[in-house]
Amino acid sequence: MAERSNFGSKIGVVLAAAGSAIGLGNVWRFPTEVGNNGGAAFILIYLACVLFIGVPVMVSEFVIGRSTHANTIGAFRKLAPKTWWRIGGIEGVFVAFFISCYYIVVAGWTLHYAVASFANHLSGDQDYKQYFQSFVSSPWEPVVYAVVFMLMVHFVIVRGVEKGIERSSKLMMPMLLLIIAVLVVCSFSMSGFIEGMVFMLKPDFSRVDANVVLSAVGQAFYSLSLAMGCLCTYASYFGPNTNLARTAINVSLIDTMVAVLSGFIIFPAVFSVPGVSPGEGPGLVFITLPNVFNIAFHNVPLIGYAFSGLFYVLLFLSALTSAISLHEPVTAYLHEECHMTRHRAAVLVTSSTIVLGVACSLSMGVWNDFRIFGMCLFDLFDFISAKIILPLGGILICLFVGWKLDRQLVYAEVTNHDSLRIPFFRLYIFLVRWVAPLAIAIIFIRELFSK
Ligand code: PHE
Repeated sequence: MAERSNFGSKIGVVLAAAGSAIGLGNVWRFPTEVGNNGGAAFILIYLACVLFIGVPVMVSEFVIGRSTHANTIGAFRKLAPKTWWRIGGIEGVFVAFFISCYYIVVAGWTLHYAVASFANHLSGDQDYKQYFQSFVSSPWEPVVYAVVFMLMVHFVIVRGVEKGIERSSKLMMPMLLLIIAVLVVCSFSMSGFIEGMVFMLKPDFSRVDANVVLSAVGQAFYSLSLAMGCLCTYASYFGPNTNLARTAINVSLIDTMVAVLSGFIIFPAVFSVPGVSPGEGPGLVFITLPNVFNIAFHNVPLIGYAFSGLFYVLLFLSALTSAISLHEPVTAYLHEECHMTRHRAAVLVTSSTIVLGVACSLSMGVWNDFRIFGMCLFDLFDFISAKIILPLGGILICLFVGWKLDRQLVYAEVTNHDSLRIPFFRLYIFLVRWVAPLAIAIIFIRELFSK
């Protein structure tokens, strides 16, 4: 086989992994969770989850990927041949594929909202709930946007690791960070700025209970793209000098910073408009915000126009870099294990994601009556992948690295064969052996029984 490609630079490694992590989860889900779970108290708990669970699990995925230089299924096979641990790899590839199928639907909405915003269709006093509902249930519009979005992902993937994934991350991530900076500065001038900041920064621990803690762990997992095969696959392209622990910490810091800054953008806007609550739920970005932007900027419509356009471009870019990272584990698997050319593998993944993605999109409209276990296809994909397979995969990764893998191998990977000093190695092992798997197991059981 030809030599396997690698990321070409350290900054490329961090930006690609951060591109995977920063996604709709940061800009959309995080502020909603903060709004629902008591503001700053949730943020503090979230930070602890990222540090004590997220980072160790990320390092573990990096260890599996980089020590084998193989796709996720190949990696588990190499490390534990002919054992049932292989399920860990299979889980990664499957969950990445299934999440892609509905992720591209929501990603398509972000593309539509970016276009509609610049075409000035999201201005003025209109019923934004009606606007959103008629868009998502249309038989063709969201489908077209999801397909266009997927073709963009395909375009990057077929160009390969260095010229596709790395180069696009180096281009898109700085753009994304720049847009965030502009929007944050803009939100300083909003009338609800102080109120929004107080809401985000003043901790109120009376709201904290077990559910809040569990939501924080779940959010950290989702936001850091853990247990989906993505980071494990990206790590298989890391060079021998990449410092795994430092990379995991940097990626987690950038991801958390973007999530918090998204709150800095959204809450001042929300608090500038009377009668809007900060925990609006999933409708927040597509229904509440267009309305909020219009009212908050009604004196300066041009700034409102730019603010709203940039905000949806931000959402779109974040979704694009995440979707690329969901495509790669499946493509790499087909290419390396099923002996297809990379191009063919990518075409197969793109076309099957489009077929299932279109079905998911239609399930929110014309096919809404078709239900399995009482759920439409979109919800079913979300439930099976995010609520069932994902936590199980997370537990498997922790148990595999914490209990099964040879400690010497893990130590050699984390310290780059003893050339780095890693002061917290024993703490790291303790966290992946005990704390992370137990925390995920509790969430899993709670999610199952809350249905
Ligand atoms: N971490 C991404 C987010 O915050 C979601 C994601 C899931 C990305 C799976 C890649 C893989 O939205």
